[in-house]
Amino acid sequence: MAHSPQNPLDDPAADPFEIAARAAADIARLTGVENHDIALTLGSGWGKAAEIIGETIASVPATEVTGFSRPALEGHVGTLRSIRTPSGRNVLVIGARTHYYEDHGVRRVVHSVRTAAATGAKIMVLTNGAGGIRETWKPGQPVLISDHINLTADSPLEGATFIDLTDLYSRRLRDIARQIDPSLDEGVYCQFRGPHYETPAEVQMAKHIGGHIVGMSTALEAIAARQAGMEILGLSLITNLAAGIQETPLSHAEVIEAGQAAEPVISSLLARIVEAL
Ligand code: HPA
Repeated sequence: MAHSPQNPLDDPAADPFEIAARAAADIARLTGVENHDIALTLGSGWGKAAEIIGETIASVPATEVTGFSRPALEGHVGTLRSIRTPSGRNVLVIGARTHYYEDHGVRRVVHSVRTAAATGAKIMVLTNGAGGIRETWKPGQPVLISDHINLTADSPLEGATFIDLTDLYSRRLRDIARQIDPSLDEGVYCQFRGPHYETPAEVQMAKHIGGHIVGMSTALEAIAARQAGMEILGLSLITNLAAGIQETPLSHAEVIEAGQAAEPVISSLLARIVEAL
């Protein structure tokens, strides 16, 4: 697959943490904001949150920041924004997710998370659009991620790096989110490689091994965020019921549409949660 040779992360001898530190320095220089407190990755359906969390101090094309890749997909905005919340905290909003299925390697997938940590962020909020396995869930509904099952058979950790993943999606942060919206349900997120959607049989497998949400992101990012010492909050927008749970075939257009329809409601929910963190 096409690796752009100028991305320093593609050099196996390079240190991804040193590259993340360079990216954080780029962000400080381009935004004028030295440190960030919270980082937020906006997946499909969550983009509008950037407009209501607070005042945008600066907006930077991700391509100007060391190690970032171009967005692969329409609907995935390649921008990094520094936002000041009403309570005066600096939030780094990452609208430039690199997916595992893009085949640029795990380093590039988790570079935004490592960069967020290097900017000083102590809390990493990971959002995504995903398929729901629980039949009671409806498209357009946001749910908390309580844990994950990583089905990529890959890891962002390099070498013999052993890291505990207990309470990876912080109970403390989930409790805060539920104080804002007590109706928030939660479930276990299964990261598949994609980019194809799952077969109904794979969805049944995910269900039997304890999964409730299926998607193509987040788990690898959460592992990197834990390695970097951040506390993690995970939120999925259920854009569709997973293959075989809903009767109709899945389509990318349906996923985007559900995201757009839910956007105003979930974005304001997310803004209120961020303010409470
Ligand atoms: N499966 C995987 N990823 C997804 C889905 C799904 O059903 N919906 C949105 N992203």
